Amino acid sequence: MTDVLATAIAGRPEESERGEIGRRDFFNAIAAGAFGIAGLGSLVVTYRYLLPNALFEPSMNFRAGTPDLYPLDSVTYMPDQQVYIVRTGDGFYAVSAICTHLGCNTQWKPEAGLIACPCHGSKFKSDGTKVEGPAPRSLPHFSITLTPDGELLVDKLETIKPGQALRV
Ligand code: FES
Repeated sequence: MTDVLATAIAGRPEESERGEIGRRDFFNAIAAGAFGIAGLGSLVVTYRYLLPNALFEPSMNFRAGTPDLYPLDSVTYMPDQQVYIVRTGDGFYAVSAICTHLGCNTQWKPEAGLIACPCHGSKFKSDGTKVEGPAPRSLPHFSITLTPDGELLVDKLETIKPGQALRV
């Protein structure tokens, strides 16, 4: 009986000889794949953990170029900063472009000579003074100074009273 069984086993070719994957090799491959995926996932999570968890916001100070870029009696919108650089005969103003009602972005309307809010219709003069609409107050003015190398420097962290123009 034992000889018959030994002969039967000896007569079967090995699994690797038949070009098939054995059950043990199959489960080893599955385990290696699972460990590989888990290891890669933990590397990604560790990398993300090591990165600083900070928001990068634009600076509240910005240079607006030299004064000669702005013609007399002009209103120039700075879209990245949401600020109008206004030049009048009195000098320069930096006026916020954010509506004081609910924070919409206003638009300069040169044909009307007004800054208009598209959301609820508030209107402001070019110096930010409220003319009409639901906005509770005029647009704030930001500090505007001249750098030592002759560029306009706006500080959005410092609001100033309207009418304080930078004379150049
Ligand atoms: S947000 Fe400008 S009028 Fe309402």
